[in-house]
Amino acid sequence: MSVWEALDYLNTLVDDSDPDIELDQLQHLLQTAEAIRQDGHPDWFVLTGLLHDLGKVLCLYGEPQWAVVGDTYPVGCQFSDKIVYPEFFTENTDYSDERYNTKFGVYSKHCGLDQVKMSWGHDEYLYHVMKDYLPKPSLYIIRYHSFYAQHREGAYSHLMNEEDHKNFEWVKKFNPYDLYSKIPVPPDAKALKPYYEKLIAKYLPNKLAF
Ligand SMILES: [Fe+2]
Ligand SMILES: [Fe+2]
Repeated sequence: MSVWEALDYLNTLVDDSDPDIELDQLQHLLQTAEAIRQDGHPDWFVLTGLLHDLGKVLCLYGEPQWAVVGDTYPVGCQFSDKIVYPEFFTENTDYSDERYNTKFGVYSKHCGLDQVKMSWGHDEYLYHVMKDYLPKPSLYIIRYHSFYAQHREGAYSHLMNEEDHKNFEWVKKFNPYDLYSKIPVPPDAKALKPYYEKLIAKYLPNKLAF
């Protein structure tokens, strides 16, 4: 699909995890991107705002929503109590498996997030769709924007290397735009489309493998 085809397709989805159902998916993405643009940020950051939730098309492919939306976190090591609803991890068999329930688990100190397997979701999926095309900070935002235990709480710094820390500055910068751009004034998708079509074409091929 082209990005715009994916946006139109995604727009048929209602996200159960989203407390704000006033806006549809396209409106959320346009608002996020527009808020970033209005603050004068680089164009790749604006584009990232538009793209960041496109991985939610997984839901439309039949993936259950619990496997697509919500917090993401490392697997193969101890689940942090900073992950949302940590009490439910007691029912996960990894929780009592001593290969996976220590601070480092299968990893080593500051091994880098690229070595770390994350729980599956729209973030990881879209990262794989986009990884050949976008600048590194953009890919970090796409891949880790639901990793609240780290970008809000710093709970997994012991697995991160210097490059991760540098790029997480952008993940943190992005978060308020994702959360607080949800004002109930629908953006004018038709009027904005030419600007975004041009921006998409600057970075991405005509068709992507969703
Ligand atoms: Fe998201
Ligand atoms: Fe979002």
